[in-house]
Formats: sequence, C-alpha cells, structure tokens
Amino acid sequence: MPQRPSPPDELARWTAVDRYFGTVLRDSDPALAASLAAAAAAGLPAIQVSPLQGKLLYILATAVGARRILEVGTLGGYSTLWLARALPRDGRLVSLELDPRHAEVARANLRRAGVAEKVDVRVGPAAESLARLAAEEAPPFDLTFVDADKEGYPAYLEWAVRLSRPGALVVADNVVRRGDVVDPHSEDPSVRGVRRMMERVADDPRLSATVVQTVGSKGYDGMAVAVVLAPGAAPGTEGPVGGASAGGSPPKRGGGGPRTGPPRSDRVPRR
Ligand code: SAH
Ligand code: DHB
Ligand code: MG
Repeated sequence: MPQRPSPPDELARWTAVDRYFGTVLRDSDPALAASLAAAAAAGLPAIQVSPLQGKLLYILATAVGARRILEVGTLGGYSTLWLARALPRDGRLVSLELDPRHAEVARANLRRAGVAEKVDVRVGPAAESLARLAAEEAPPFDLTFVDADKEGYPAYLEWAVRLSRPGALVVADNVVRRGDVVDPHSEDPSVRGVRRMMERVADDPRLSATVVQTVGSKGYDGMAVAVVLAPGAAPGTEGPVGGASAGGSPPKRGGGGPRTGPPRSDRVPRR
C-alpha cells in the first residue's frame, strides 16, 4: 500500500539534508552505490532504507557487538550490505526474502561488495523461514531488522524475540507511515500490522522499546527500536538461548542490580 506523498518542498528539503549529512560524513561508497544501481537496473522498487538509515543500522549492529544478524526483507541487499559491514570476519547474517528475483539481485550485490560469504539469503515466505530457523536451533541473533510486508510484523516480531539473545536489538522499519499509524480505525493492512506489532511490543515483558521518527529522502516515517531484556524461549523449551555472542547479558527483569530501560510502572498489569 503506497504512502501518501510528502509535500514536494518538504521532501526536497529533507532530501537535501540527507545529502548534506551523507556528504559531510563521507558515507558515499562505490559498493553501496553499485548495489542501488544494480537494483534499479533490475527493476526493483527503490524502497530501501536511506543512506543515513543504513548507517544507523550499521551503528546499532556495531554498538551491540553483533556477530549474528537476522534481516526480514532483503530486496536488493542494500540494508543487508550496511549490516554485513558491521560484522566481524566470522560474523553471519541471515536475510529472508520472498521474491527469488530480489534475492538474486541481492546475492550479486553482496558478492560484488565482498561480503557474500557472511550472508545467507533465504528465499520464501519469512514466516516459514523463521519457523525453520527456530527448528534448526540456530544460535541466537544479536540484532534483527524487520522490513518485509507490514502485515507480517506482529509474527516477525515474535519470531525475532524468540531467536534473540538477551541484550539483542529488534529494529522494525516503516512504523510511522507519514503519520498514518495514529489512526486506530485505519483499514490499511500495513497500518494495522504495525499497530498490532506495537501493542505486542508494549505487552511483552521481554522487550523495552521506543520509536525514532524520521524525515529524509524516504519521506516521513520511522523505526521502532526494541531491546530484548530476558531470554526468548519457544513455549515448552527451557532456559536461556543467549550467551553465545559478544558481550554480557543485561540484568534480567526482576533480578538484582540496575535495570535496563525505563521504569515499567506505566505498563498495564499482565494476564
Ligand atoms: N530491507 C531492504 C528493503 C526491503 S523492502 C532495504 O532496506 O534495503 C521489503 C522486501 O520484503 C521486498 O523485497 C519484498 O519482496 C519482501 N517481502 C514481502 N513479503 C515478504 C514475505 N512474506 N516474506 C519475505 N519477504 C517478503
Ligand atoms: C516502502 C518503504 C519501505 O521501506 C518498505 O520496507 C516497504 C515499502 C514504500 O515506500 O512503499
Ligand atoms: Mg522499509
């Protein structure tokens, strides 16, 4: 579902500011530019994250010392490339994509950028690929970027948390949708998917979350950023899933010591 366009004068200004910061930070880069050109040449929609948003993903992955990253929605591999660059040499990124054409373009881009050996692009409906990852008992992820169909966001969030180590980040793109997200009566399936995901985030004791609203070359939108506070576990399974990755675990909720995140007195009681 397309978003309403931003007023052209505002979009031009936001785009100029994106360009300014991209230039002053010297973040332009032949491999990233080539991946965008190849995606455009292959007829893929230009709906990838902006360069500054890609850099934010890189910074978040770097900050959590990510060694394993999960992405839901690859497209031409632009956000994938930013994330892959945050990984150490032996790091791993699993990116899930429905469309085999998108996956092929992404694989070629990642190969050209020299990160192919770190990245596993898996084709199929993300819900199925996520269930398979869980069944494989893959080591937990340090960061998940959710950016596929917005109707699927509630399910993707749940899988992401289950597949995360304590202290991992879950980032979800396009949660503001030019402000459309505030309409509780919206019939837009994307808005409904985002709102349901946010309600689940709020109700999930394993998560503490915020939303960063953004303007820029992609218009007015935003990313939800959540930290996983406690071990994720599938129903019926025991014990923590984390610990294999870099860094220590944050204090668990209800445990001793300082807590991560704000006081939770603003929360409704749980069932
Ligand atoms: N993360 C990319 C953009 C992803 S666009 C970037 O910023 O560079 C969303 C992608 O999700 C599209 O490629 C689309 O084909 C894919 N997608 C849509 N529905 C999906 C599903 N059910 N499972 C997996 N991928 C899906
Ligand atoms: C659009 C933008 C996105 O970042 C995305 O993941 C899907 C769609 C869009 O602008 O339509
Ligand atoms: Mg997106």
